[in-house]
Amino acid sequence: MKAGFLQFAPVFGDIRHNVERVIKVISSQKADLIVLPELFNTGYQFISKHEVKELSEEIPSGFTTQKLIKFSKNESVYIAAGLSERDGDLFYNSAVLTGPEGFIGVYRKSHLFFEEKLWFSPGDTGFRVWDTPIGNIGIMICFDWFFPESARTLALKGARIIAHPSNLVLPYCPDAMVTRCIENRVFSVTANRIGREQRGDKDMLKFIGTSEIVSPKGKILHRASRDKEEFGHAEININDAKNKDLNPFNNIFDDRREDLYDH
Ligand code: ACM
Repeated sequence: MKAGFLQFAPVFGDIRHNVERVIKVISSQKADLIVLPELFNTGYQFISKHEVKELSEEIPSGFTTQKLIKFSKNESVYIAAGLSERDGDLFYNSAVLTGPEGFIGVYRKSHLFFEEKLWFSPGDTGFRVWDTPIGNIGIMICFDWFFPESARTLALKGARIIAHPSNLVLPYCPDAMVTRCIENRVFSVTANRIGREQRGDKDMLKFIGTSEIVSPKGKILHRASRDKEEFGHAEININDAKNKDLNPFNNIFDDRREDLYDH
């Protein structure tokens, strides 16, 4: 299968523009799975709860999810994409999975980063894996990577590929994802954004690009630039993530010493 990501710079607050721009770019690509950045439709740096309210959408009935569903159905492609979700009075930094069959599910970010804690509630979905015809897809969002339990939980639940919508500002993640993939024997697709945001009296945020696709043996199959829009992709065999045997003596899941791990 072909797995891809779109690395780009959204315009803060202009949902229609961002969604239409993304759909235009990915329309000219062929892939089985496309991962889009975290908060791809709104941009990242919220400065008031009012903005969060205005820019969040219900899932799956909102504008952005409906557009992704339509595109997934028309083009027979799975899409994992980050967006701001409204559920009653609560707001989540979420990601949806859509596919040829329509809406598949939502994941709400478990580990909120920095001022996200001012705007969003901590995710309550838990880590989710969906069994699809192209393989088992799990989702985590950006800073979730910092907690190895996120990728581990997805892998233990059967994920063969981790879709990882991101808005990275710290430099560590692209190299760290190599370890996440090795220790769990999974593929990952990290879709990061590029550009800068400086809104209100907040400090400027510079996003690091370097979106990437990593194999279960930690090979970087494709890594994007730090600052250019790019549709990156790689041909992968999802079955490479199935076998957790390192050698005849070691299975990375069976060998876990849960009796020694403190929770
Ligand atoms: C992040 O979680 N957006 C750094």
